[in-house]
Amino acid sequence: MKRMGCNAYCVLILVLHVVALKGSPALVQAAAGDFSRDDFPPPPRFVFGAGTSAYQVEGAAFEDGRSPSIWDTFAHSGRLGDDNGDIACDMYHKYKEDVQLMVNTGLEAYRFSISWSRVLPNGRGPVNPKGVHYYNSLINELLSHGIQPHVTLFHYDIPQALEDEYGGWLSPKIVKDFTTFADVCFREFGDRVSHWTTMNEANVFVMGGYDTGAFPPGRCSSPFGKNCTRGSSTTEPYIATHNILLSHASAARLYKEKYQAKQHGLIGLDILAYGLVPLTNSSEDEKAAERVHDFFHGWFLNPLVFGDYPESMKKSVGPRLPSFTPLQSKLVKGSCDFFGLNHYRTMYIKDDPDSLNTNTRDYLGDMAANMLSKQGQVPVGEFPIDPAGLQIVLENFKEVYGNLPVFIYENGQMTNHNASLDAILNDTSRVAYLEAFMGSLLQAIRNGSNVKGYFVWSFMDLFELFDGLKATFGLYYVDFEDPDLKRYARFSAHWYSSFLKRRRINQYLWDH
Ligand code: BGC
Repeated sequence: MKRMGCNAYCVLILVLHVVALKGSPALVQAAAGDFSRDDFPPPPRFVFGAGTSAYQVEGAAFEDGRSPSIWDTFAHSGRLGDDNGDIACDMYHKYKEDVQLMVNTGLEAYRFSISWSRVLPNGRGPVNPKGVHYYNSLINELLSHGIQPHVTLFHYDIPQALEDEYGGWLSPKIVKDFTTFADVCFREFGDRVSHWTTMNEANVFVMGGYDTGAFPPGRCSSPFGKNCTRGSSTTEPYIATHNILLSHASAARLYKEKYQAKQHGLIGLDILAYGLVPLTNSSEDEKAAERVHDFFHGWFLNPLVFGDYPESMKKSVGPRLPSFTPLQSKLVKGSCDFFGLNHYRTMYIKDDPDSLNTNTRDYLGDMAANMLSKQGQVPVGEFPIDPAGLQIVLENFKEVYGNLPVFIYENGQMTNHNASLDAILNDTSRVAYLEAFMGSLLQAIRNGSNVKGYFVWSFMDLFELFDGLKATFGLYYVDFEDPDLKRYARFSAHWYSSFLKRRRINQYLWDH
């Protein structure tokens, strides 16, 4: 398989895809070596699954009453070339076939998101019965095969109607509308859904959406982003985050007050978490790594666990950082029953004091640090296999944030469609990656981390956030050139399946 290239745009995204944690590397141990499914707690105490999200797989973008989301608009703006999610994997029509693939694989759980604009096409108001029907059918199909649904409410795809009306997450009006959307979902699906995530990778969404402009809604201001036409990288990431936290907290309160006692589910929020390691042992780089931790993780985790933003952010961002009223702080604090952590890689942190010497700074400038690969370079291509980072993340989470239950909601390797079919299917680099991270996860659990599940990203190839249909993460390859969008099991799908069916982690490799 060819190694993936990376243009400047992709590099920018990869830099964003760099979050991590301080943690004591001394506590990090080697991955678990030879292990099997039976070394982890059995389901439902611990589940192994895989995930996707609505816009990335469903297609049927203009069918059955669905209206556009900001992701449709972003994709159609040409920023990802000619690709868009109008058809994607066509899972809207092929969900039964896909659930059957999940059954064949042996998945215990499946993570997916609900398209807000399919269920409430105007963002609020009348419910679209066909949208509700689709998700009911998917959930029932999963449950009839014993697969636990884990549902995300927001995965980068707020209805365009709300973006147009009041600027989406930039307005406090979103709190009421998000809560209403959540209410509809809890009411319609909550009798069968045990795990609700309000927001996917909230920290990356606000960085990409409002600082660099590389993700929907594509807002940024010069010189911080690329092709910025509207927005303010200086203030908007902070405003959007504040409204996201308040929306999450409001939906969580509603769930806990109105539904939890009878539906017995749990509610949480998901962020991207990277292993953070100082590039050198200088005290500057060590402090920079702590600052990056505060900016990337603490920005969300501190309010959710302690009720306020980290002190280092208050100091660096000043009055541009919104503050919580005592009532808001109380609402946000303790609103998560669990956290979703998406983990892909470790980043090496270098202090960058110069970025503080300018009066107008964006979020990344406020952080005053660079995130680099191990060799001190900007990260490109396939993710390095550096699984200790997952233990750093989980150790930090355990020590600093009280060891609430955690789901690793995304972990996976990026490969390229640009190869022969044999090479595409023979994804040994993905298997090596997954094996290493699953072993590291087992070690973290043995060290006391309260992890309740692990989900490979992604179940199948899909419309990728930063590279359209070119970069893929799937256990299943989807031939996007084929009008029927045929799915093919990759080597990694067989390997994961063998593990889920109770064989040793490497048994499939030894047999093939
Ligand atoms: C997102 C996914 C995306 C994946 C790989 C995460 O940022 O949640 O939607 O496909 O990373 O880029």
